[in-house]
Amino acid sequence: MSKLWQKTTNVNKLVENFTVGRDRELDRQMAAFDVLGSLAHTKMLESIGLMDAADLTLVQQELKAIYTEIGNNNFEIEPDVEDVHSQVEMLLTRRIGEAGKKIHSGRSRNDQVLVDLKLFFRHQLQTVVTETDTLFRQLIQLSEQHKDVLLPGYTHLQVAMPSSFGLWFGAYAEGLVDDLEMVLAAWKITNKNPLGSAAGYGSSFPLNRTMTTNLLGFESLNHNVVYAQMGRGKTERVIAQALSSIAATLAKMAMDQCLYLSQNFAFVSYPENLTTGSSIMPHKKNPDVWEIMRGKCNRLQALPNDVALMTTNLPSGYHRELQLLKELLFPAFTDLIDCLQMATFMLQNISVNKNILDDPKYTYLFSVEEVNKSVLNGTPFRDAYKQIGLDIEAGNFNPEKTVNHTHEGSIGNLQNEEITKAMDKMVSSFGFKKVEKAISWLVK
Ligand code: ARG
Repeated sequence: MSKLWQKTTNVNKLVENFTVGRDRELDRQMAAFDVLGSLAHTKMLESIGLMDAADLTLVQQELKAIYTEIGNNNFEIEPDVEDVHSQVEMLLTRRIGEAGKKIHSGRSRNDQVLVDLKLFFRHQLQTVVTETDTLFRQLIQLSEQHKDVLLPGYTHLQVAMPSSFGLWFGAYAEGLVDDLEMVLAAWKITNKNPLGSAAGYGSSFPLNRTMTTNLLGFESLNHNVVYAQMGRGKTERVIAQALSSIAATLAKMAMDQCLYLSQNFAFVSYPENLTTGSSIMPHKKNPDVWEIMRGKCNRLQALPNDVALMTTNLPSGYHRELQLLKELLFPAFTDLIDCLQMATFMLQNISVNKNILDDPKYTYLFSVEEVNKSVLNGTPFRDAYKQIGLDIEAGNFNPEKTVNHTHEGSIGNLQNEEITKAMDKMVSSFGFKKVEKAISWLVK
């Protein structure tokens, strides 16, 4: 009789295994947040007279002890316990008796899992922002360091116009700023308190939802209790969009890396110990890191679709398959955070080829430069274009291989300072301090 809801009948073992699924393993990741939710909920219960001061003291002490055990990896969901919510409540009751049985008044596992997920996602989103910011700084540093090293720019994968390592690194940095706009939207939708919606229809107890909102450091609450329950699926959907946006940036960068590492390009290189060999070809130094990253990040771009397919047309109210969303979102965070960290690590070790443009096959990169020079000397653009075209056809094109780009965002004026300011502003708009303060007060 280990289920919270069990009265007399034992549930069929096959049904139990099928419905519990991977919860025991995945819920472990939410355990600390489940305890935080209970710390706030029980303080609130005491404030409205549903728990006395002595019980609250006992409960808070023991919850904090469990919080520490979780932090020390001393916590497991026992084999016949359904989920983390049951495990924490059972531990409490086992250790402190009657008081433990009182914590679930005015709450359902439906709003309990909602608040656990919001707290967990908030924590993971903060890590995503921090790791994105670290990668951003690495890219800006490389952009500045190599701003004078030219690189062929391509359109249609055909040699087009001069580009530079300054532009290339800086482009991905600026892309990450925009990706964080999506993460900020996800953060804002996540950062609202669903606790107190109970099974999805509220409670006849006079719950103080504003109090738990403040205790947990949420910006606001999901006011309507039916809407609060609808947040399951909706939160995951917007987070999936945000993660997939960063993933798209990383996947494109990973593809560029693979291309530029190929001997046919040879624009960049890495120390041998960061590449991998072949079991048959002794000369190989393969870019497996970037390939795995490309694959993981391409797969992450399917996430919004996976979440949509699982939740589309579900009517309002709780449904058990919402549980499966954890199987989509939890590994997605792990994969993306791994990729962000690996990208930073690899870039700390990249070398760039400084003489790429000495190769005569890149001579035509300068065709537009030459046209523009002649325009500046008074020739109409169309005539200048034709003249250079004829020179190229006749084999008489011998450009000076220099560039003079000065406008905003061009080779000679990268505006990395402006881009960095945009990133600083973006990161500070999340308001992580407020959340950290609330949580550390709750566990103190
Ligand atoms: N493991 C469940 C989930 O993630 C917890 C909520 C269970 N609620 C219920 N009504 N059976 O959704």
